Amino acid sequence: MDNTDTLILVVEDEQEQREIIVSLLLASSYQVISANCVEQAIVMLKEHPIDVIFSDWKLGKLSGIDLLNYVKNPNTKKLTHQHGFIIATAHGTISHAVEALKKGADDYIAKPFQRQELLLTINKALNAKKLREQNQNLSSQLSEQNKMVGLVGKAPCMQKVYQRIDRVSATDATILILGETGTGKELAARALHQSSDRSKAPFIAINCGAIAESLAEAELFGAEKGAFTGANATKIGKFEAAHGGTVFLDEVGELTLTTQVKLLRFLQEGSITRLGSNQELSLNVRVIAATHRKLEQEVKQGRFREDLFYRLNIVPINMPALRERNEDIAPLCEHFLSLHSKRHNINVPKLSTSAYRSLLEYHWPGNVRELSNRLERFVLLDDEQELISALHVQDSQHSDNTPEFNFPEESFSWDSFEQQCLASALTKNQGNRTKAAKHLQMSYKAFLYRLEKYQLNK
Ligand SMILES: Nc1ncnc2c1ncn2[C@@H]1O[C@H](COP(=O)(O)OP(=O)(O)OP(=O)(O)O)[C@@H](O)[C@H]1O
Ligand SMILES: [Mg+2]
Repeated sequence: MDNTDTLILVVEDEQEQREIIVSLLLASSYQVISANCVEQAIVMLKEHPIDVIFSDWKLGKLSGIDLLNYVKNPNTKKLTHQHGFIIATAHGTISHAVEALKKGADDYIAKPFQRQELLLTINKALNAKKLREQNQNLSSQLSEQNKMVGLVGKAPCMQKVYQRIDRVSATDATILILGETGTGKELAARALHQSSDRSKAPFIAINCGAIAESLAEAELFGAEKGAFTGANATKIGKFEAAHGGTVFLDEVGELTLTTQVKLLRFLQEGSITRLGSNQELSLNVRVIAATHRKLEQEVKQGRFREDLFYRLNIVPINMPALRERNEDIAPLCEHFLSLHSKRHNINVPKLSTSAYRSLLEYHWPGNVRELSNRLERFVLLDDEQELISALHVQDSQHSDNTPEFNFPEESFSWDSFEQQCLASALTKNQGNRTKAAKHLQMSYKAFLYRLEKYQLNK
């Protein structure tokens, strides 16, 4: 930036002085405008993109400090951009200079001054202004990013996640989000949608493990009236409903091979055909898929189509496990303590250092969701001892996850034993069936089958 791009406002009530300063600055190629009082200066500030204000201390009834106060007032700053500010003080009035610097002036100059001195202070104020602007941009970018992402955590592995989200959000590329349970896969998908051009259009999340096989096609792609028994009206599928927006296929590894074919077709051709119809519908939908499974392994075992895997895996995003980003535990704790306290309208309880230590040492198999659940319980009970001992109990079971089972000497009811196991798995997982099934190392379908068998499926 050369001087011709810099606009300086000279505020001086004595005409002769004002003209000298203006001509000195013009001679150095600066753009210059001038005002003879604070009021006039304020009007000019509103009308011109002023870079540096050079103001005299004494300005009639008011002073340069009044102008400085105006410029630094947070309400004013919202309206105008950053300014450099220099105050010119009479010889021997250093206290004025100190006051101005305290109030945020970038520099002062004692009168009378040399041309060179004047140019040096202008330069200094200009640099200070630029730095402030850069910081302002940076912090507004950061807060913008945090707002858009909604993900807490600054660990380097999370920074990589943010960067990737940022990079692909403007594109329509298919994204595959990988990671253990509770690592924030869905949150990341929502963040991606939110920061894309599609943010105003729908974000439709589909839990692929929870759709019955016979209904999957109609659920996803729609069905014409009469396409199957019970189809009394035309059904709009989730993909169609998401037109213009994003479909989030959660637990994509659970899709049956038949539905995988349909999905692949959509990804290749961008169109769907409702069940019972011959007409293709072109849709503008971005697909984000997620899974906690190792899809390559599923491919090897023939449970997942290889071509679909490659189609989905164009841009993978790996959500790190919580134990890999210990440094984020404290900020996440603060986040959840305040979140749950607000939700339950309860005072935020404090965590002691030893509680923090236990939280840091714990292995977090349920990742961020588990941390959130444990802290919600802590907010409700305010019982730190309970929190710490629960973590220790879990940890001691960690090394051996097959509970000891004493086979009864007497005969016993297998059915009621099985029912108890199913019910406990549900309770332990807050009613989440996907997780309860996983807890019992059972497929989701096998789990549902058993729930139905015992009529626990309510
Ligand atoms: N980085 C994070 N910052 C704040 N909250 C988070 C973060 N990661 C996850 N959460 C919260 O933890 C919970 C679980 O996150 P989410 O549902 O996105 O995980 P997931 O990976 O989809 O889990 P699952 O595999 O079990 O479906 C949610 O309540 C979510 O808001
Ligand atoms: Mg999820």
